[in-house]
Amino acid sequence: MPTLYSALRPLLFRATPEGAHHLSIRAGKLGQRAPGVLRAVFRSGLSREQAARLSVRALGLEFANPIGVAAGLDKNAELIPMWAAVGLGFCEVGSISALPSAGNPKPRAFRLPEDRALVNRMGLNNHGLDAIARRIERTRRPAGFPLAINIVKTHDPSILGDAGIQDFAASARRLLPLADLLVLNVSCPNTTEGKTFEDPEALEPLLDAVMRVRAELASTVPVLVKLSPPATVDFDSAAVDELVDLSLERGIAGFVATNTASDRAGLRTSPGRLDAIGRGGLSGAPLASRAEALVRHLARRAGDRAVIIGVGGIDSPEEAYRRIRAGASLVELYTGLVYEGPGLIPRTARRLVELLDADGLELLEDAVGLDR
Ligand SMILES: Cc1cc2nc3c(=O)[nH]c(=O)nc-3n(C[C@H](O)[C@H](O)[C@H](O)COP(=O)(O)O)c2cc1C
Repeated sequence: MPTLYSALRPLLFRATPEGAHHLSIRAGKLGQRAPGVLRAVFRSGLSREQAARLSVRALGLEFANPIGVAAGLDKNAELIPMWAAVGLGFCEVGSISALPSAGNPKPRAFRLPEDRALVNRMGLNNHGLDAIARRIERTRRPAGFPLAINIVKTHDPSILGDAGIQDFAASARRLLPLADLLVLNVSCPNTTEGKTFEDPEALEPLLDAVMRVRAELASTVPVLVKLSPPATVDFDSAAVDELVDLSLERGIAGFVATNTASDRAGLRTSPGRLDAIGRGGLSGAPLASRAEALVRHLARRAGDRAVIIGVGGIDSPEEAYRRIRAGASLVELYTGLVYEGPGLIPRTARRLVELLDADGLELLEDAVGLDR
């Protein structure tokens, strides 16, 4: 598969990033009609015993392997069967908002090939709660394939304060019964109103509202909070710790670390090109070291009280394994899939087994947090 994708990539990269994305979604929708074919193309080649070493028990769920797809690639939950068929252990769909949103004006996604990165300011375009919930209900869910659903406040600067909390809570109420995990996106850098909930005073009433809805529904679905990356690897942790402690007090089960970054520190792409692109969230390789630093910090701070999903700049099996050793029980891919193609998924599964062997470890779970 990697060779096929390397052949296709120049063609895909001739399209705009958003055009290539739509093409991939269409191909995925076609492909998932024949999941057996996808499974054959993307098989890892691991024996049953080897594959079993990669399984992860976390958050009261069984994951066949720790590799998932990050939010934003399947915003409208159209490809759940495909994600299972290409060999992932779980998927995160969304971000879904209570009201549908067209997002920001185009162009709003850009490639930075010199940095193996992307910049996007999609602005939370999605079909909205009702349409997506109905789609998930109609989807034949692959067995043993946990579904994480990511929710966000509707991108509309007039929905603020208590209305913003009610907007979020409406999504939680409708989607908790359909989800295996619920992720609260409080860290999207691409809205007019900014990151309204990533400060403790705003996060507290949001968590209270969502956890109240969860209690009313008698739901046991774990709720996670998705965080922004720190500005540097040696960041001042006080602000993060406040969010973490507050979240744990309110019964949050874990963290997704991290979302995209607003800054442009340390890039190879020319300043002129960056100026021409303008604002937006940076994803991909330049995020890796600081996303890893945050995972390590979270693992130390929260210990066994939280499960960490590591995301940000994971574009190789080795990077995935480093993130796991730093403290992530699960990892997610987005920009890595754009540059490496879906062959990255079976390649990562195969190589993770070799990396465990090299470290004398039997189970992937034994590697979680070894370097924290
Ligand atoms: C085009 C694009 C759209 C995204 N949309 C969302 C989104 O809707 N919700 C969300 O929580 N994260 C979103 N993300 C962030 C990713 O889930 C992920 O946190 C980030 O890209 C870092 O991972 P990566 O370096 O592997 O891409 C988006 C990322 C990209 C590139």
